[in-house]
Amino acid sequence: MAMIDLRSDTVTQPSTEMRRAMAEAEVADDVLGTDPTADRLQQAVADLLGKEAALLVPSGTMANQIAVKLHCQPGDELVCEAGCHIYNYEQGGFAQLSGVAARPLEGRYGVLRAEQFHDTIRPDNEHFVRTRLVAIENTHNRGGGTIQPLEQVDAICQWAHQHGLATHLDGARLPHATAATGIELHRWCQGFDTVSICFSKGLGAPIGSALAGTRQAIARARRIRKLLGGGMRQVGIIAAAALHALQHHRQRLVEDHQHAQMLAQTIADIDTLELDPPPQTNIVVFRVSPELGTAAQFVQRLAAEQVACLAFGPQHVRMVTHLDVDRAAIERARQAIQRAATRRT
Ligand SMILES: Cc1ncc(COP(=O)(O)O)c(C=O)c1O
Repeated sequence: MAMIDLRSDTVTQPSTEMRRAMAEAEVADDVLGTDPTADRLQQAVADLLGKEAALLVPSGTMANQIAVKLHCQPGDELVCEAGCHIYNYEQGGFAQLSGVAARPLEGRYGVLRAEQFHDTIRPDNEHFVRTRLVAIENTHNRGGGTIQPLEQVDAICQWAHQHGLATHLDGARLPHATAATGIELHRWCQGFDTVSICFSKGLGAPIGSALAGTRQAIARARRIRKLLGGGMRQVGIIAAAALHALQHHRQRLVEDHQHAQMLAQTIADIDTLELDPPPQTNIVVFRVSPELGTAAQFVQRLAAEQVACLAFGPQHVRMVTHLDVDRAAIERARQAIQRAATRRT
């Protein structure tokens, strides 16, 4: 019986059609000039996100770090949510690569309210770093795939711009926010100077992210990409997969959300497991009661049932639905959860 892999939505295999699109891609050396397929992708991303231009980069981490470098100088500070990817999972790249400090604000499941920002601007005084950038993550990974409320996003961006701060959206899973709410991608991006989006998460491409913004910002971002070693040659191979993903894998994200709800129903019915929080998109995080052991032990019991997932803290488990997990696999995973929860330590 094949393992049902719910560790992340990054584990997807490129489909036959995607591989064909990659094999047939028209390519050129993108460092020496332009690659026609990368250009098509970058234009498509810019159009979808409502920005003037976009740049293909190898990873979401690089897209975020380019954005930090683009907006900040050494001695500047970025304000972000305490559980966000930029703050926790990029090796403090803002500090290592850009000499930037970070000021984390505590959100509820990663969701921030505009008023939390209101006293974050440092006084203009030689003792302090210069507050320069606001970064928001939507959907919020560590928060459990939570969606930032649009009115709060708008209010945060408006406040930031009123105070001369730049705004960056880590939209690694922004297509999920659109699939769940019907709010178009460009609307979510409206208040942001730059936006990063990933093709290698729920969209199912093997590699790649993009950073979008003004033409001028993206021209500078292209220089920073080269500095960081992200200039790539016949990159149309990767761009073709991303284009295929944008065309064919966005609408279907609602299926992943339905699958997350099915897992959530099973978890909600078991009194020793607790959804934390109830899922809004494709990420399901739940707390395992100590009477069932630790999260790591629960994950091990699920692995024995051919279901792979991750311990997300001492008592928390994360499952992520994606396009390589179909309805039948979800039904099997639900049964596995029930069995794993009946065995006590
Ligand atoms: C919200 C968020 N931003 C950025 C990234 C980084 O993406 P990558 O793994 O492509 O560097 C991730 C990866 O999981 C993520 O969840």
